[in-house]
Amino acid sequence: MFGLLLLLFLPFILYLTAPKIRKMLSNGVCTSTVQLPGKVAVVTGANSGIGKETAQDLARRGARVYLACRDVQKGELVAKEIQTSTGNKQVLVRKLDLADTKSIRAFAKDFLAEEKHLHILVNNAGVMMCPYTKTADGFEMHIGVNHLGHFLLTHLLLETLKESAPSRIVNVSSLAHHLGRIYFQNLQGEKFYIAGLAYCHSKLANILFTRELARRLKGSGVTTYSVHPGTVNSELVRYSLFMRWMWQLFAFFIKTPQQGAQTSLYCSLTEGLESLNGSHFSDCQLAWVSAQARNETVARRLWDISCHLLGLPVDW
Ligand SMILES: *[C@@H]1O[C@H](CO)[C@@H](O)[C@H](O)[C@H]1NC(C)=O
Ligand SMILES: *[C@@H]1O[C@H](CO)[C@@H](O)[C@H](O)[C@H]1NC(C)=O
Ligand SMILES: *[C@@H]1O[C@H](CO)[C@@H](O)[C@H](O)[C@H]1NC(C)=O
Repeated sequence: MFGLLLLLFLPFILYLTAPKIRKMLSNGVCTSTVQLPGKVAVVTGANSGIGKETAQDLARRGARVYLACRDVQKGELVAKEIQTSTGNKQVLVRKLDLADTKSIRAFAKDFLAEEKHLHILVNNAGVMMCPYTKTADGFEMHIGVNHLGHFLLTHLLLETLKESAPSRIVNVSSLAHHLGRIYFQNLQGEKFYIAGLAYCHSKLANILFTRELARRLKGSGVTTYSVHPGTVNSELVRYSLFMRWMWQLFAFFIKTPQQGAQTSLYCSLTEGLESLNGSHFSDCQLAWVSAQARNETVARRLWDISCHLLGLPVDW
């Protein structure tokens, strides 16, 4: 009897609580009024979702914003849209395919030839739950794009970030890192592979790196942050039918890309955040990371292996 009543009332209860839950889920708004004239920003994966919103906000504040996109044509359309909505003509599109180290090196080379400065780097692009595939360099796609690709990009742009200090690097990670583990014997999913978990592993790698990088950048004036954007309706779920269904089912609870961009913006802009470098943020607040993500031994080892895989010196 009680069960039946509950069942009858459940939709009603959900209906009443949904706005509250939604508000809770979408809290955290970047209220910074910082303006960015003369500043240069790069946003990866900027032609849709959170990346696009982040780029748009930075452009509105007057920065010169580079949209680093795999699909340049689509990027150009987005750039036009942002130029129109913000009145800032300095929104530029450059080709960047994070699944190909040649493309990453070409992007960095051209960028450095064009620009003397870089103040904000938002490592936003990501893939989620794609079937087992490899990057041009033979890395498993999630670890290859989400981690190694951004690792190389950050490395190539770091000198310029240092010269432009105070500057910031923001890494879009995820709450999903809690499910992630770094299996050094199975980094590329050679032995076993579960698409959903591969995403979590790569997001854990993002956090480990943010912390390791923060340690290494001590005193350089470059500070680094990792971010959980929230559960956001974006193209990230494009590879998974199941996830697209889930997203539709729970659409009401899910953040818009604009809400999802708030924490990235908060970490890119908020004054006085420097002492919290290396930290993880969610809803524009400090957030807990898993024990794995705090493990310095794992962070160091992953750093060394990543350098080795990419043919980079270990100290940079
Ligand atoms: C962001 O993540 C990439 C890949 O894990 C890493 O190489 C880079 O150092 C990170 N940057 C920051 C600021 O955390
Ligand atoms: C970054 O954080 C560390 C502590 O984790 C601190 O010692 C260092 O001074 C900070 N760097 C900057 C530029 O504030
Ligand atoms: C870090 O991870 C390693 C390997 O997984 C483990 O042996 C070690 O106990 C961990 N250290 C801490 C402080 O959790």
